[in-house]
Amino acid sequence: MPLFVLTGAGVSAESGIPTFRGRDGYWRNLDPAKLATPEAFSSDPKLVWEWYRERRQGIRNAQPNAAHGAIAKLATHADEFLLVTQNVDDLHARAGIPAQKMVQIHGDIFVTRCSRCEFSYADRGGLPEPPRDRVLQSGRLRSIAPTSDSDVDVPRCPNCDELMRPGVVWFGEQLSRNELERVEDFLDGGACDAVIVAGTTATFGYIIDWALRASRDGAELIEVNPEETPLSRFATRLVREPAAIALPRIVDELIALG
Ligand code: OAD
Repeated sequence: MPLFVLTGAGVSAESGIPTFRGRDGYWRNLDPAKLATPEAFSSDPKLVWEWYRERRQGIRNAQPNAAHGAIAKLATHADEFLLVTQNVDDLHARAGIPAQKMVQIHGDIFVTRCSRCEFSYADRGGLPEPPRDRVLQSGRLRSIAPTSDSDVDVPRCPNCDELMRPGVVWFGEQLSRNELERVEDFLDGGACDAVIVAGTTATFGYIIDWALRASRDGAELIEVNPEETPLSRFATRLVREPAAIALPRIVDELIALG
């Protein structure tokens, strides 16, 4: 039973993580669509880091909800399964989806990477955000002395001294080639039995394109979203309910169908 699942911010909404385009999406009256950009980072990296630090902390404090749990359950029952999430939080992973069955197409908020070279590290722990005087490199903690006050707020690369940035995809940036290949390989592998698209406004063309490709041979295309989206007209089943309510039921139905 090959299955393909696409998720967006709405799936984490019931864990208390604000969606991007919802009323709670604004931060200090700033529009996330303007903050999550290379332009915002180059004009005010400190402000952008503050936003990401707060979001990281909010995610650490949050717990996966029943929607994350249902998708993880589905993953264990399907012989071929891929979850593509636009969410940069780690709630799908904490609900139990193994890394090889999930693509975080917009990156991982807990990764910090250099804006110039290849240096990066992931830190899901409770260190101050970002770590101020040490980074984990090749499994060893290296001390790095901040060279100015601004380094405390905006970390610099220990290799090339360029600004470090969150490991996420910003508006106008390319998707990671590796992650794209993983999605393409899965979709090239054949049509799916069912496709679920949950909690996303599907504003990016590639989201609609992947959903249509995965369901190309007549698979059920289930949209779970309280609101209409550009994908709604292609769906064979519209579920206008919150994901944490609808997904456990839909997953049990799919598992029963075998
Ligand atoms: P959005 O904030 O655009 O949309 C959230 C969607 O979830 C909306 O369609 C809501 O109707 C729906 N929703 C809200 N609560 C829900 C619930 N409890 N259950 C189910 N659905 C619910 O978030 P995304 O579509 O994920 O990209 O946004 C896509 C991308 O745009 C993000 O990954 C981010 C962004 O700005 C980048 O930063 C590149």
